[in-house]
Amino acid sequence: MSALTTEKLSETVGVKILGVDAERLVADEDLPGQCLELLERHSVLLFPELHAGDAAQVAFSRKLGPLASFPNFPNEHVMIISFDPDNPNAKYYPSNDYWHIDGSMDEVPARASIMSAHEITAEGGETAFASTYAAYDALSEREREQFAEMRVIHRMARIQSRTFPDPTPEQQADWARFPDREHPLVWTHESGRRSLVFGASASHVLDMEFDRGQALLDELQERATTPDRVYTHTWTVGDLVIWDNTGLVHRACEFDRSLPRRMHRSTLVGQEPIQ
Ligand code: OGA
Ligand code: MN
Repeated sequence: MSALTTEKLSETVGVKILGVDAERLVADEDLPGQCLELLERHSVLLFPELHAGDAAQVAFSRKLGPLASFPNFPNEHVMIISFDPDNPNAKYYPSNDYWHIDGSMDEVPARASIMSAHEITAEGGETAFASTYAAYDALSEREREQFAEMRVIHRMARIQSRTFPDPTPEQQADWARFPDREHPLVWTHESGRRSLVFGASASHVLDMEFDRGQALLDELQERATTPDRVYTHTWTVGDLVIWDNTGLVHRACEFDRSLPRRMHRSTLVGQEPIQ
């Protein structure tokens, strides 16, 4: 196995992998295993200016684990993230601007995503990442005890009302179609590591006064996403980034949505419920 050369991207999150081109990405049979190990340790992997293309991205992603399907897109394993009016998912993407875990309304959220930059804007449009493992580790002993049994309600209306603070009755009815999801505040992973579960969908804490619960969730998110705890990736066309969706929150940074920005994302389905 040839060793990978890596460089840290920030104190808590992210590592850059040097010396891998698109050909090696699919040909090196040791690479997927090495990447999964690095992902567990660093949460975000960057292959700078790889220019993999969809076929190589999918071939590589498959070796990391089973892939999610996006039947609305030309390649069912490549979701296209853009505000192009023809994009079938365009109306859901504004909520990517808020810190979130992908699939937090599901019992088993996605394991990881593999995303390449195809078109970027000159300004804005970065993607920011913050470790939810580090968020747990930074709690006091007292907080760890307090939070150990807490349950959090995740709600579609909570996500959407961040983008649409004055929803129409139709929007409200639409959001209400999605059942709430209850997760523990502290996720004890099969590995034994613990992380905090918060983000755009987190509405309130079960058996706690609504506003107090919401304030607690807001505070935990704020503490976990101070600039010193965040890795913000400024994209170059061709960059490929892998993020561990189980130990991070992430968000898209603002940009002029009338300009083209197009990312191609493949996703590994989840293997572990939040528990
Ligand atoms: C996503 C996402 C962020 C971005 O695709 O799940 O949150 O920067 N994307 O596009
Ligand atoms: Mn996302």
